Amino acid sequence: MGTKTEFDSKEAAGVESLYQTDAAERRRRFVRTTLEPQPGERVLSIGCGPGFEPVELADAVTSDGRVDAIDASEPMIHLAKKRCEDHENVTVQHGLATELPVEDGAFDAATSVQVFEYIEDLDAALSELERVLRPGGRAAVYATDWDSLVWNAADRERSRRVADAWADHCPRPHLGSDLRSPLRSAGLSVDRVAPFTIVETELEDTFAGYMRGILRSYATEHDEFDTETPQAWGEDLRERDRNGETLFSLTAFLYLVSKPE
Ligand SMILES: C[S@@+](CC[C@H](N)C(=O)[O-])C[C@H]1O[C@@H](n2cnc3c(N)ncnc32)[C@H](O)[C@@H]1O
Repeated sequence: MGTKTEFDSKEAAGVESLYQTDAAERRRRFVRTTLEPQPGERVLSIGCGPGFEPVELADAVTSDGRVDAIDASEPMIHLAKKRCEDHENVTVQHGLATELPVEDGAFDAATSVQVFEYIEDLDAALSELERVLRPGGRAAVYATDWDSLVWNAADRERSRRVADAWADHCPRPHLGSDLRSPLRSAGLSVDRVAPFTIVETELEDTFAGYMRGILRSYATEHDEFDTETPQAWGEDLRERDRNGETLFSLTAFLYLVSKPE
């Protein structure tokens, strides 16, 4: 099984459930608080996913501003259009981060949250980000380093193998810790780097609970595993949860960048 860069309807629905959790909501708030979208601004959401990001940005820029949301996946666009339908200041359209279907210098601000790790041609995506920002415009680029994933598991070695298999799901699983140089090469200044850690102590309806299901399914289809190993890993986490022993931690990094005047 190789890297997965397309989201079908089932996977898009899985991401939608994951992004309804408190931790995902806190993550979006952290991105907005750092980016500080202002009333009247025009903001681009690159890889908008199921649409939580553009809706919340639209509220921040108010009806005087505008949000353009772009995603490569039709099932994600379907979900995002539905979520944004009551917001007249949001446009959702199909597009690639490497060929953004928008004009040069049109945006005051942009977000790319958990998107660039899915892109082989990172330099093309960053050059597009630089192109569409106005001089002085800013962007929040957020990416995880999957080496930071910690689970309290009985069999640490098995847990590490499940996590390593999951790291294959995108071409750049460590992008979170390796973005400064490519951002600078694209002509953007890196103004701040801030970590965001999700820590969970329960599985029920939490980011950790959904991630357990996603990693277990992914590992089940991975060449390296028989079907029992991911199953046993998932059962162990469930058992620990029943005993009040869940500990999940994952760190990503937000790069606040700007385009020089
Ligand atoms: C993990 S989701 C993140 C969604 C959203 N940014 C959020 O945080 O709520 C990643 C999204 O990036 C999109 N994506 C992946 N590669 C892309 C590309 N080359 N161009 C545009 N979107 C892409 C996927 O379709 C998916 O919706």
